[in-house]
Formats: sequence, structure tokens, C-alpha cells
Amino acid sequence: MEARSREGWGTKTGFILAAVGSAVGLGNMWRFPYAVSDKGGAAFVILYIVMVFAVGVPIMLSEFAVGRRTRLSPIDALRETGGPRWISLGMLYVLTGFLILAYYSVIAGWTMRYTLEALLSGFAADPGAYFESSTTGVGAVIYHVAFMAITISIVVGGVKAGIERVSLVLMPLLFLLVVGLAVYALTLSGGGAGYSFYLRPQLADVFSTSTLAAAASQAFFSLSLGMGAMLTYASYLKRQENLPGSAATISLADFGVAFVGGLVVFPVIFAFGLQGDIGESAIGALFISVPRAFVEMGAAGRVVGLMFFAALFVGALTSGISLLEVVTSSLIDHWKLDRARAALGAGIFIMLFCIPSAYYQGILDLLYSMSGEFLL
Ligand code: PFF
Repeated sequence: MEARSREGWGTKTGFILAAVGSAVGLGNMWRFPYAVSDKGGAAFVILYIVMVFAVGVPIMLSEFAVGRRTRLSPIDALRETGGPRWISLGMLYVLTGFLILAYYSVIAGWTMRYTLEALLSGFAADPGAYFESSTTGVGAVIYHVAFMAITISIVVGGVKAGIERVSLVLMPLLFLLVVGLAVYALTLSGGGAGYSFYLRPQLADVFSTSTLAAAASQAFFSLSLGMGAMLTYASYLKRQENLPGSAATISLADFGVAFVGGLVVFPVIFAFGLQGDIGESAIGALFISVPRAFVEMGAAGRVVGLMFFAALFVGALTSGISLLEVVTSSLIDHWKLDRARAALGAGIFIMLFCIPSAYYQGILDLLYSMSGEFLL
């Protein structure tokens, strides 16, 4: 068989950091703390660890194996592996990735806005009212469009010069920010109750099936599984890479960031008595209760808040890139477009498609439950 010419990663570290970039995102510091507080605290954390390592790692490994062997994006990779009947599963992968990016980019736009506001003017005195007014309407649309524009420009740059280069800089930055925040959280008086909620399990909850199901869907989302992102990234690998080692490293890094993220969010929330807020709404929790704590902290809160939202934004960007890359590489392989056209076409289509969901939160909620809870 003639060897396929295909773009590829420059270094193994580049691949690992890009895959960690895909995995680490809003799922770690936004969806994970919400799921922990919704599903019984530390019991969820235990089941989540089991799901990540017993289920997530093997599935990631199988996506890697199929991607590296076929050197194709999901639709064609599955057809080549399992025959024509598998094309529909490949299509479902791309559709799910598309729908996730559709709401992901809207929320990522919010993180961009919060980061810029922390930098330029500080957090609003009433974060609840600010959230209501800033996350819908024209302002939200502008940030969503800006986020998509940045994502598209990186994906147009290609695997090595775009995705890899950005990941090599942004992922170490994100680790530093998250660890710095966790060290700061240690200094808060009154954070102890947060740590014990997060780390001390009620044994009965460990055996709850609804907690188990929530842990499974969180693991899939957080490890970027089931949408072909890992498959696509592995399709740019050379044949000799050690796949089990990579899958374990990436999953461990992803779990590490979520876990350390919890060591930030819970003490911060409990130190200011805001624990009632976080379980209130899946989407809004983090954007209301956490800034409320930053406002209470005074001057320090602005710096800490800037670090927090910058970390979220960086995570969202590298994940958004991988979601757009799934669609882009499918257009390149299956529909034979060149990279620039594929990334621009898919990106602009998604950007336009999502304008209504950026504008009205009702549509956003619908997309979220459809892709995150059902398709996944
Ligand atoms: N893993 C990302 C997160 O935790 O935020 C979300 C995600 C990215 C899911 C890419 C799926 C995917 F293909």
C-alpha cells in the first residue's frame, strides 16, 4: 500500500501536550466541580477516578490505535477499520463534536470576557446580575465570534505550526496558573469545610448508580472521548509511539488538573459561605459563585480571579481547537478540501450556527443537554 502523506506532530511532547490541551478544558474547572457538588462530593470523586482509569484509559487507547493505524480522521478511519457500516458511527462522532463546539464556544466566550474584565476593570459588585446581563445578547455573541476567530486561525495554521505550537506554550502556563491558585486557596481561613466536602466521602453515596452514571459521562467529556478528537490527534502520529504510556499520561494530567481545580474551587466557595450557590444551575454556577468570592477577597481577588478565568480560557481554547480539528480533518480526508478552506468553512459555519445560542440561553441549555448528556 502506498504510504499516505499526512501532516504530523513535530515532537512526542507536542502530541502529548496537544492531547492534554484537548482533554483539559471547561470540563475540568467548570463541569467537574459542578458534578462533584451535585453528586455527593467525595463519593463522586472516587467513582470518577475509577471511571477515568478503568474505562477512560482503555477507550482512549483504542481511539489512539485506530487513529494511528489508519492515519485518517474519524469517518474514514472507522470505515477502514470496520467496513462501510461504521461510517455512520464516524458521522455521529463528527456531529457530536460539532454540537459540543456549538455551545462550548459560547461558554468559552464568557471565560474570555471574564478574563478581560478582570484585567481591565475588575469583577462586577453583583456577579449574579452581571452574569444575567453579560451571557446573553449582543455582548455574548461578540465574544463567541472572537473565540471562534482565534480557534479558526490556529487550526488553519496546521497540526505542527498551529495546534502543536500553541499547546507547547499554553499548557505549561495553564498548569502554573492552576497550581498557583491551589496554593493561594490553602491560605484562606474557613476553607477547611470545602476540603472536607471535597475529600471526605460518605460511604453510602459511593454505591449510587446515578453518581456512577454522572462519573462516566464526566470522564468521557473530560477525556475528550467519543467525538474522535483523540482518534484524530493520533492519526498525526508516527508509527513507533508508545500508545498505552501516552494514554495513561494524558489521562493522569487531565485528572490532575480537575483534581487541583477542585482544590481551588471548594475552599474558595466554602471560605465565603457560597456553597449553596454552586449546585443551583449547571451552567451558571461557576460564573456567579466564584466571582462572588473574588469580590469578597478585595484587591487580591482581582489577581486571583484573573488567574482563574485565564486558566479556564486557555483550557477552553485548546479544547475548542481539537473539536474544530475533528471536523476540519474530516473535511480534508473525506471531502478532499484543503486545510484552510476546511477550517474556515467549518469554523465559520459553526460560528454562525451558534449565534442564536449565544444570544438566547434557552437554546444553549438545549444544545448542552443534547450533546453533553444524550449523544455522549
Ligand atoms: N475535554 C474537554 C473538556 O473537558 O473541557 C471537552 C471536549 C473537548 C470534549 C474535545 C470532547 C472533545 F472532542
